[in-house]
Amino acid sequence: MPTGPDNIVVVYLGEKQTFVQPSQTIVARGILEFGSWTDRKPASSACCGCVMPNMRRSSAMLSLDLSHVSVSYPGLPTPVLDIPSLSIEAGSRVAVTGASGSGKSTLVNILTGLERCASGAVRWGDTDIASLSERSRDHWRGAHIGLVMQDFHLFPGLSAIDNILLPVRLSRALKPGDPDRALMLLYAVGLCRADQTVETMSRGEMQRVAIARALLRKPGVLIADEPTASLDSDSSDAVARLLIDLSVSNDSTLIVVSHDPRLTGRLERRITLSAGRIASDRAHREKAA
Ligand SMILES: Nc1ncnc2c1ncn2[C@@H]1O[C@H](COP(=O)(O)OP(=O)(O)OP(=O)(O)O)[C@@H](O)[C@H]1O
Ligand SMILES: [Mg+2]
Repeated sequence: MPTGPDNIVVVYLGEKQTFVQPSQTIVARGILEFGSWTDRKPASSACCGCVMPNMRRSSAMLSLDLSHVSVSYPGLPTPVLDIPSLSIEAGSRVAVTGASGSGKSTLVNILTGLERCASGAVRWGDTDIASLSERSRDHWRGAHIGLVMQDFHLFPGLSAIDNILLPVRLSRALKPGDPDRALMLLYAVGLCRADQTVETMSRGEMQRVAIARALLRKPGVLIADEPTASLDSDSSDAVARLLIDLSVSNDSTLIVVSHDPRLTGRLERRITLSAGRIASDRAHREKAA
């Protein structure tokens, strides 16, 4: 174990080591570990959008079946999420809406395995991720899910392009075509300064970097929590089209938490949460071609 100052994190980017203060970082669980000097090779790490080494990426579409899922926090009289049953067909495109505090992000955390529900099953295809250990859930998420989190989880100090490539670099899964695809995605979300560090970007620009990162590995399931919340109407429209077009061309299941009609209006189903429960679940338009 190397010696070094407390609360410093070592990040391996390929062969290069980068040292960062945890106070400067916003990190998805599993990429890094904080609290003490950490010398952690990325072989065991995973995060939103990461692909784990030695795991074949599944491009297979996965259906979702939730049963008897309940999430409670101490001190609260009722569960913040209580879903007896929910199914989402593989390859479908679904909007999740609801008032602030209705449980949308909690649902995202449960669907992606970032949070484990105390009871119930969260089945993606044949895998009940609620029954997996945290480490296995991280691996599973890395292999199957592209995740755009509400607060982006970008890595300050790194450029836009390096943020997009960070998960595959950390998991040593970088492929020769990835840098070009990352650039292409950056342009597709309307950004052209690939080397701009993310902390100098506006929230809307950061949001677009997070979207590009989630799309890099062509995930079988793409889940985005308010992906257009920080964008102006033109950028929102472009990002909505990009998410839908890429989910169609990649045959991905798309689940988007959003109130943005430019996005939800293009999705075929709308689930509305209220106080942690499904208040309505409606077909909204024909399935996108
Ligand atoms: N760790 C926690 N401890 C206690 N309560 C929590 C915790 N995490 C979430 N909650 C509560 O659970 C409820 C649902 O939160 P959640 O973040 O899922 O809402 P949301 O629908 O995503 O809201 P928003 O639209 O504001 O993002 C809220 O009342 C929130 O305060
Ligand atoms: Mg939320």
